[in-house]
Amino acid sequence: MSTPQFTVADIRRTFLEFFKDKAHTVVASSPLVPGNDPTLMFTNSGMVQFKDVFLGTDKRPYVRAASVQACLRAGGKHNDLENVGYTARHHTFFEMLGNWSFGDYFKRESLKWGWELLTQVFQLPADKLWATVYIDDDEAYDIWTKEIGLPPERVVRIGDNKGAKYQSDNFWMMADTGPCGPCSEIFYDHGPEIPGGPPGSPDADGDRYIEIWNHVFMQFDMQPDGSVKPLPAPCVDTGMGLERLAAILQHVHSNYEIDLFQALIEAAGRETGTADLLNPSLRVIADHIRATSFLVADGVIPSNEGRGYVQRRIIRRAIRHGYKLGRKTPFFYKLVPELVRLMGEAYPHLAAAQARIMDVLKAEEERFYETLENGMEILDAALAGDAKVLAGDVAFKLHDTYGFPLDLTNDVCRERGVSVDEAGFNAAMDRQKAQARAAGKFKMDRVLDYTGSGNLFVGYEKLEEAAKVVALYVDGTPVAELKSGQEGIVVLDSTPFYAESGGQVGDSGRIVAGSALFEVADTQKIKADVYGHHGKLAHGTLGVGDAVTAQVDMVRRQATMRNHSVTHLMHKALREVLGEHVQQKGSLVDPDKTRFDFTHNAPITDAQVREIEARVNAEILQNHATQARVMDIESAKATGAMMLFGEKYGDTVRVLDIGSSRELCGGTHVQRTGDIGLFKVVGEGGVAAGIRRIEAVTGANALAYLQQLEDTVNRLAGALKAPAAELQSRVGQVLEQVRGLEKEVGALKGRLASSQGDELVAQAVDVKGMKVLAATLAGADAKTLRDTLDKLKDKLKSAAIVLAAVDGGKVQIAAGVTADRMGQVKAGELVNFVAQQVGGKGGGKADMAMAGGTDASKLPAALQSVQAWVAERA
Ligand code: SER
Repeated sequence: MSTPQFTVADIRRTFLEFFKDKAHTVVASSPLVPGNDPTLMFTNSGMVQFKDVFLGTDKRPYVRAASVQACLRAGGKHNDLENVGYTARHHTFFEMLGNWSFGDYFKRESLKWGWELLTQVFQLPADKLWATVYIDDDEAYDIWTKEIGLPPERVVRIGDNKGAKYQSDNFWMMADTGPCGPCSEIFYDHGPEIPGGPPGSPDADGDRYIEIWNHVFMQFDMQPDGSVKPLPAPCVDTGMGLERLAAILQHVHSNYEIDLFQALIEAAGRETGTADLLNPSLRVIADHIRATSFLVADGVIPSNEGRGYVQRRIIRRAIRHGYKLGRKTPFFYKLVPELVRLMGEAYPHLAAAQARIMDVLKAEEERFYETLENGMEILDAALAGDAKVLAGDVAFKLHDTYGFPLDLTNDVCRERGVSVDEAGFNAAMDRQKAQARAAGKFKMDRVLDYTGSGNLFVGYEKLEEAAKVVALYVDGTPVAELKSGQEGIVVLDSTPFYAESGGQVGDSGRIVAGSALFEVADTQKIKADVYGHHGKLAHGTLGVGDAVTAQVDMVRRQATMRNHSVTHLMHKALREVLGEHVQQKGSLVDPDKTRFDFTHNAPITDAQVREIEARVNAEILQNHATQARVMDIESAKATGAMMLFGEKYGDTVRVLDIGSSRELCGGTHVQRTGDIGLFKVVGEGGVAAGIRRIEAVTGANALAYLQQLEDTVNRLAGALKAPAAELQSRVGQVLEQVRGLEKEVGALKGRLASSQGDELVAQAVDVKGMKVLAATLAGADAKTLRDTLDKLKDKLKSAAIVLAAVDGGKVQIAAGVTADRMGQVKAGELVNFVAQQVGGKGGGKADMAMAGGTDASKLPAALQSVQAWVAERA
């Protein structure tokens, strides 16, 4: 072939340089987790970081951009997970070369530059290139055929080939909503020896004609109802698969044969002990190590929902392929160093996260190996017959009990020509969910029959409100009246009580009506906008329709607000001090504390804790006023506020500015940061692989915490008779003294034992010329026993000796035999002989052996038996 050879690194560089020369700004790859975009699971193409620029809600200082973007197509609208391992060109993780025009150039420049780069810089033979255009895009068709000169038979018009308007290979959408437009794709023909047909033909899915570069002419914003709104300006968004281009430029027909993948496949072969590097499982593993490592680097760790579940599915699929190759212990994580070697330079954040990635992957491997083998046995048994369908129940059991994601089960079944009854799987899943709901925390919702309108929530501004009772419940049943002493739930038309949500606990307080007093223990949502006040009627009667005064427990609420507001400041400080990978994974805010779980791989050091405390307290001292603004979600995103993925934000949201933090939040907050008082971290620890938990206190709780510490210090100072300031040196002295005393005691013991030893010499009996001695050595430890034994051997010259000591109920025994007698008596056997009589066992060498026993009462008899035992052998 005539095209020159380029490595993956050469291709990245050449691409960016080409577009830099055409006045494009080179932009870095953005994280796999799109910032503030709940419509999208993962960054699935280069345009994701520019979405708001297309929509006109964000502006950049440039109108042309180019990048090499890390992308993931697993889960979500674009999902290639199931194809990996089965085709030459599909990946979960891949790199996309892209260039963009934001209202600047359009179709002509885009296609012409594309052609120039491919045919002149990369020198692809023009006769191997094909193009497609959207069915009615005459403009693009003409550019290809008349201006670039591609023969009309190699330019294919593609319509809505997926069943509905705009559902087309040549109409690109990022997600179900958002920027979209018709596109023109460039294909490369790998030659007739590869099966597959040209684009638009029935065999288009084969590996012969490969789409390499998509040029999207972004013109619309897809609405949730399927209609399109024009964008403020037509834009260009192109994306070329780096791995596919590399395959062509390296004269191979599969992405998995390019330099980068060959190195990964070799590493996978090594770690799985697989010599046949063409084994498809190695391709799966090589693909999946990239996806999962980049995901961890971007803060996604395996879990049972959302992005974390996609991560888990990919890891487990890789592990299963390792298992298929015979691996039964963790191997996958060992590929990370090789990946970092190959890609760390282009993606420094991957290199920086190497240790964290290895930890997370290893932990997930260890966890899955616990159930994998049993699950595989069940699956093998179910597939043993010749049924062509695996029952949904079995697939569900594998999922539920053995942690087999459905696509893993599918993958195994597909290898064996069996399909999975997915409808049956889903039905089993629904049944289980319904059972869980019936049994669990939804019990209340199930029985609470409320059809009225939502209540007003006035608790942001007020802690007391005149309201009306609109519903009452006892044991989940609506009642007209609550009687004194009855427990129940009260619903009001308007309430200052905050209902538990967003990690903040529900309010408590009182609802009063004349002489009736309902003590509210907790507030929980019955529906999104209907709050149930749970509690007990202390006295009086309370009826539906009664006018009441609802009073929130102010002290408790204020303590809760301090902890909630400080959580925002702490979240920000954590990201600043530990890094942007910190993502909130859960929080609990109550009057006592804030507890915050987040992604991070290592313990927070003392110095980092101090830094976080310093930053948060500095914000508190600045005493900024809190600002809450209600706005539509799009405007909120434009403010750059922190959002949580998976959180269902409504059309209008609250943007909370506390100090310099900005988050979307429906919780209640202090008016000024100064209201928080002192902030103090009181705990830090790990809760799961890659997840840390930090706990902190504020206000009066912080004072109480410090006072308690001070009390402890004072008590210690009293006990050590030293002023608090000198405690450390005093404790140092005391420890020094203790060490000195320990030494002295050791020396004394030794002296004591050796004087006992001298006395023992006289006790030795002569058995056919050999001295035999068996005695106890009061207060001796193992070392003293051994030392004394050595001395006695020296003194007795030709001897077999047993020494024992009793400590608590435990017996320690040492036996020693002088060299001239070892032919007759072995110390190991001797010690065992004694030990067995005192409930123990032991052994050792011929000259010296140690053993233990548990029955001290048998020791005297055991020692007595030594002489006869030796005599038999002497
Ligand atoms: N967004 C388009 C694609 O992913 C072009 O980059 O194909």
